[in-house]
Amino acid sequence: MKDSIKVFAPATVANVVCGFDVLGFAVNAPGDEVVMRKVEKPGITITKITGDDGRLPLDATKNTVSASVKHYLDHIGQPDLGIEIELHKKMPIGSGLGSSSASTVAGLFAINNLLDQPLTQQELVPFAMKGEELACGYGHADNVAPALLGGFVLIRSYEPLEIICLPHPESLYCAIIFPEVDVPTRDARQMIRQKVFLKDAVTQWGNIAGLVSGLFLKDIDLIGRSMKDILVEPVRSILIPDFYKMREMAMESGAISFGISGSGPSVFAFTKTEADASFITQKIAKHLASLQIKSQTYVSPINDNGPIILN
Ligand code: HSE
Repeated sequence: MKDSIKVFAPATVANVVCGFDVLGFAVNAPGDEVVMRKVEKPGITITKITGDDGRLPLDATKNTVSASVKHYLDHIGQPDLGIEIELHKKMPIGSGLGSSSASTVAGLFAINNLLDQPLTQQELVPFAMKGEELACGYGHADNVAPALLGGFVLIRSYEPLEIICLPHPESLYCAIIFPEVDVPTRDARQMIRQKVFLKDAVTQWGNIAGLVSGLFLKDIDLIGRSMKDILVEPVRSILIPDFYKMREMAMESGAISFGISGSGPSVFAFTKTEADASFITQKIAKHLASLQIKSQTYVSPINDNGPIILN
């Protein structure tokens, strides 16, 4: 049995435009790294956090990584196991790319592997949801499930939790642009309307079903046509600089779809080629720079692996 482990877990795009809280997929980069060690001294300690500009708590009861590992250890009957955690943030916080999810998932994957995998990846999801609850007030699974399981996932039901791994066309590329403005998920959730009109709900569930059908049929045009959100995007897009201009630029440059990643401010486009995705990220980053807004960009296929051990 190992005494220490280093794990990478990927960023994720939640909602996938029309599927608020029920759809998400993982990308290859960015992501976070966790180094975990078993030690004699009982209890969980966070020894180091890098890459967070001092924004994340070192207090093990408040940090999402240690708090979810604690839930896990209580569950498997080893509440006093001595664990030291280093968290290396390799992705922006508050970006809408599942930053807390990547850290939490890396931690849970690390502890489960240090203990020779008493739980399956699917069984780790509820513990990762506890981390999301701590981070934003609600334990949504559309970042943590794809970060843990890889690929494209559907949360068919929260109570009871039922997660379905979906197929996807191999050739789908994702262009991500993170405009450097802070949008905390907690705030972005509070601004959403709690009631919707039936006719809007009909449009929305038609699109979700269309997107899932497109993934199964590997029909890229159907996927693109279905990625429309009339419930959440009109409200949240207000927080994102030049959202509709960015959409126009992406769509005229070969994107099949464009929308907010998770709760924003990151946006993403699906394309049919890596070259289109690179072109779109460069074009939009240049546009944001002309507005004095810094941005970070990523291009990735859908990541089917989820977390990986680095050492
Ligand atoms: N489904 C969540 C939300 C994802 O939109 O609030 C957060 O990244």
